[in-house]
Amino acid sequence: MPNVVVLGLQWGDEGKARFIDYLASEVDIVARYQGGSNAGHTVVCDGQKFIFHLVPSGVLRPGKVNVVGNGVVIDPEELMKEIDELKARGVSVNDRLLVSDRAQVVLPYHKRLDAAQEKKSGGKIGTTLRGIGPAYSHKYLRIGMRMGDIIRPARAKALLKEQLPGINAVLKKIYGQKAVSEASLLKFLLSYGKKLKSFVTDTTYYLNEQTEAGKSILFEGAQATLLDIDFGTYPYVTSSNPSAGGVSTGTGIPPKLVGRVTGVLKAYTTRVGSGPFPTELKSAHGQQLREAGGEYGATTGRPRRCGWLDAVAARYSVMLNGVDEIAFSKLDVLSGQKSVKIAVAYSYRGKITDRFPADPDVLSKVKPIYEEMPGWSNEIRNVREFKALPASAKKYVRRVEKLIGVPIKFISVGEQREQLIVR
Ligand code: IMO
Ligand code: MG
Repeated sequence: MPNVVVLGLQWGDEGKARFIDYLASEVDIVARYQGGSNAGHTVVCDGQKFIFHLVPSGVLRPGKVNVVGNGVVIDPEELMKEIDELKARGVSVNDRLLVSDRAQVVLPYHKRLDAAQEKKSGGKIGTTLRGIGPAYSHKYLRIGMRMGDIIRPARAKALLKEQLPGINAVLKKIYGQKAVSEASLLKFLLSYGKKLKSFVTDTTYYLNEQTEAGKSILFEGAQATLLDIDFGTYPYVTSSNPSAGGVSTGTGIPPKLVGRVTGVLKAYTTRVGSGPFPTELKSAHGQQLREAGGEYGATTGRPRRCGWLDAVAARYSVMLNGVDEIAFSKLDVLSGQKSVKIAVAYSYRGKITDRFPADPDVLSKVKPIYEEMPGWSNEIRNVREFKALPASAKKYVRRVEKLIGVPIKFISVGEQREQLIVR
């Protein structure tokens, strides 16, 4: 099997991890290329639920190597916690978890800065408070620390000496917060550097050498296209490139080898945090979808905003990522809806458009133009073949395919591994 990217086409929480877990059986390596512990990737395996934040979602497939690439920002405490929890549940990652020495480290002060910024702005973005934005901004300011630095005590110490005064000045002067103590931070870094050292390596060479040797890689996207720092609903986005363009810079695999792109699309839409969401259902109907779909954040527990499928947004995401096939998730959640709706265009100031606007102000004012289709009342969680779906469900799937121009290859009808239809 050639390389494949699995990424989200909406605002995250599309159910990427269950498809990654499924497709991982067909590849040799699963690699994360961006984001950090803001991700909450849920896999249900033999009735047991696992939520991954930093460890790639291929880890439940025995023998698969899991790589945390250079584009990821790593909270060492969180990573260690996940490794320990997996071990306690009988999943060993020794020898099959590799962490890039080039990946940036999320430090405790990044989380403090994230919280302070959110507080100062009155919760403008509604971040996950995992320190993601501050860690990426320090990367680009060239004042970040990398995993390769914290496993070298002298280097970690020198970098801290150089960088901490500036960071403390920001914490104190801009946010009126207490300074961070150099000694306690150094202790933190050295202790996690020591614990994680055996996992840290040059994953760029590793991935390229494995590719050369004929091994295949599944690139695991976190967050999603509409949260992309460049193409998402800026400023209501995350601070990395979840879209396919991020794969190369986040792993060191050249663009021409990135391979097939599987876009994960939920049968309806959700969003956590602030920002425009044209098809949002603010009524009791939205609440009903939230309950039916269990739409509460896997990382923060926050209720997710819910609404209808948006084909304008989906087409935009398909274009940006060059999507080859769709993994359609949570179709079972729509069972019982009297009718189902799809936004096929937007109307803005009397004009109709099929484009996803760059301006968040415009996006927040567009009116979706809906196509309404009959729903289905039958429970579909036990269906395993496309032809066995209710006629209206089949019609819905085919209409979505037609509207976005990409075949729907997989359909999930429940969170268990086997609740999957492969076409
Ligand atoms: P997975 O991988 C859904 C959202 C946050 C916030 C914005 C910025 O599970 O799909 P950040 O902490 O990244 O600076 O927050 O992005 N967000 C997500 N929403 N799923 C995620 O990840 C998300 N990661 C970040 O809610 O609006
Ligand atoms: Mg999630």
